[in-house]
Amino acid sequence: MKAEEMRNLFDLSGKVAVVTGGSGGLGRAAAVGLAAFGASVAVTARRVEALEEAAAEVARAGGEALPVSCDVRDEGSVAAMVRRVLEEYGKLDILLTAAGVARRAPAEELGMDDWDLVMDTNVKGTFLCCREAGKAMIERGGGKIITVSSVRAALGHPLGYAAYGTSKGAVNLLTRQLAVEWAKYRINVNSIAPCIFRTPLTEPVLSHPAAAKIFLDRIPWGRAAEPEDFIGAAVFLASAASDFVTGQVLYVDGGNVAG
Ligand SMILES: NC(=O)c1ccc[n+]([C@@H]2O[C@H](COP(=O)([O-])OP(=O)(O)OC[C@H]3O[C@@H](n4cnc5c(N)ncnc54)[C@H](O)[C@@H]3O)[C@@H](O)[C@H]2O)c1
Repeated sequence: MKAEEMRNLFDLSGKVAVVTGGSGGLGRAAAVGLAAFGASVAVTARRVEALEEAAAEVARAGGEALPVSCDVRDEGSVAAMVRRVLEEYGKLDILLTAAGVARRAPAEELGMDDWDLVMDTNVKGTFLCCREAGKAMIERGGGKIITVSSVRAALGHPLGYAAYGTSKGAVNLLTRQLAVEWAKYRINVNSIAPCIFRTPLTEPVLSHPAAAKIFLDRIPWGRAAEPEDFIGAAVFLASAASDFVTGQVLYVDGGNVAG
């Protein structure tokens, strides 16, 4: 490989990305990061106003963004979102599935409404997005899929994550399964597993010092992560730099699962 090619390993110019949960903390950071490396990014979530703000942030970072409303739990909505992206850009190279929800409750009190919401969003929603984007990638001869897992897929927690941790364990296995099935189509499927990041999702925990301490005490790096900490891993797994990496769960966790 020539030096010039090596320097361009992370370049995403001309690539088209879909980021689900694009109005949320991690999705928005990922969208801005992918755009900064040259990708056009469709940001999707349910509320259009929030997506327009995210698209404006991507534009301020010098990128191009398309807001597309989508409920990842709804098969028809996901198919329509992918169709819209293909109409606009003619292809889809990168999918990053950051749409997700968490519900915390002691296992003995966990209600089925919360269980179903978490499973429908995190597991079914991730699968539907992978399936619909995967079809477009198969047709074009390759692509990059990045799911979003969590350290909770690897470690139980005293504060009640029976539904959430189970859903992220399923995301890990879905990632490996698709990586194996779709290797022949040259689709890389990997996952990013964050520890606790400062986003709207974790605001209820991080705003309570005693609850926050339970999480932060287990992170050797000694702090919560910021949304920007997510960008490097997302760009790596979206780019040619990771062409021979597939089926992996990359922990972006300040050492959380190492100790
Ligand atoms: N923040 C953390 O500490 C942390 C840690 C580990 C894993 N994660 C995972 O990272 C992902 C993003 O988390 P975040 O912190 O950015 O959360 P967030 O609450 O800031 O954002 C979540 C996003 O998902 C979208 N969303 C929720 N339900 C949806 C649905 N049915 N259809 C479409 N969009 C939907 C929301 O609108 C929002 O854009 C989630 O999967 C979460 O489980 C986050």
